[in-house]
Amino acid sequence: MHIQGIGYYAPERIVDNDALSADLDTSDAWIRSRTGIRTRRLAADNQACSDLAAEAGKMAIISAGCTPENITHIIVGTVSGDAAFPATACLLQSKLKIPTAMAFDLGAACSGFLFGMQVAQGIMAAEPEATILLVGAETLSRRVNWQDRSTCVLFGDGAGAVVLKASPDACMPPGGIFPALVEGVICEGGGGGELLCCYGGGTRYPYRHGDIIGPEYFLHMNGQEVFKHAVRAMSDISSRLLKRLGRSVEDLDLVVPHQANLRIVKAVLERLQVPEGKAFLNLDRYGNTSAASIPMALAEAHIQGVIRPGFRVLLTTFGAGFTWGAALVKY
Ligand SMILES: CC(C)(COP(=O)(O)OP(=O)(O)OC[C@H]1O[C@@H](n2cnc3c(N)ncnc32)[C@H](O)[C@@H]1OP(=O)(O)O)[C@@H](O)C(=O)NCCC(=O)NCCS
Repeated sequence: MHIQGIGYYAPERIVDNDALSADLDTSDAWIRSRTGIRTRRLAADNQACSDLAAEAGKMAIISAGCTPENITHIIVGTVSGDAAFPATACLLQSKLKIPTAMAFDLGAACSGFLFGMQVAQGIMAAEPEATILLVGAETLSRRVNWQDRSTCVLFGDGAGAVVLKASPDACMPPGGIFPALVEGVICEGGGGGELLCCYGGGTRYPYRHGDIIGPEYFLHMNGQEVFKHAVRAMSDISSRLLKRLGRSVEDLDLVVPHQANLRIVKAVLERLQVPEGKAFLNLDRYGNTSAASIPMALAEAHIQGVIRPGFRVLLTTFGAGFTWGAALVKY
């Protein structure tokens, strides 16, 4: 399977740590030292998840040298979609004027993009002609409790997208870094559901007319437990993927980790024995954008010229569920 093009979108509204400390008992120094985050982007009032996804999707389709008519499947990794139904992927299909496609959402939280990659591999095994638009898109700012300083400072909104094909198109312009070969991807999960969750509005805690919207309607997290699980899971699955592919950390030119927290990234790299300088980071500007985080970072690494032809790039993630995964991409 090949990545043939990439795109991303970050909403225009920038909110820095000082702006948050105007309404919350927090500070720029605390947020920066515990997370590495300086600013995050928040969707405008009139923007929902599919609007962000559409901007990223458009850019990915153009970068892949495709047209909307070429897309046969749309997968949107998200846990903050426009509605319970229809799927955000279906709304995206209309926005991008993709005439006919199998469109569905994939709810694996921050692991949504890598889970989507593995699902795309399965689709291509059955339908080698498929052209898949895989998007990670989130508007978690609508799901966090803006009175809970231990969570709301961490998250931001955004979207990233790739176009995937089993075999690269012959029409790809020469000289670029695409198509990039996905050498392997593994995803798994288990346990920890109650440690990072958002139950309100679902069928366990349905909203009834007149109910007061309490904290259970918003994201809840046990930060320290999530931290420990994330470090272990991301480093272990990355090691196993490399071993399965007959590769070692010496073969890596770049690591694009899920952009949750600088301290988590540093701990993962330390366990993997990869120098810190090999990680591409943009979490200082965007915070944790969940399923959008890896494709946004990959897209920026591409646009900034950080990824060069021949690079081997490790992607790794962890999210609610718990879910986690890793992929290796050769440019
Ligand atoms: C959330 C996280 C940054 C908190 O950092 P921490 O070092 O574990 O901090 P603690 O939870 O122990 O809290 C320490 C103190 O800071 C306070 N605190 C929490 N958030 C704060 C904030 N935004 N500003 C100021 N103080 C804050 C706590 O109330 C606590 O105060 P207390 O000692 O008086 O009780 C950290 O646990 C983390 O990054 N976890 C992983 C989160 C994540 O990435 N989740 C998504 C994964 S996909």
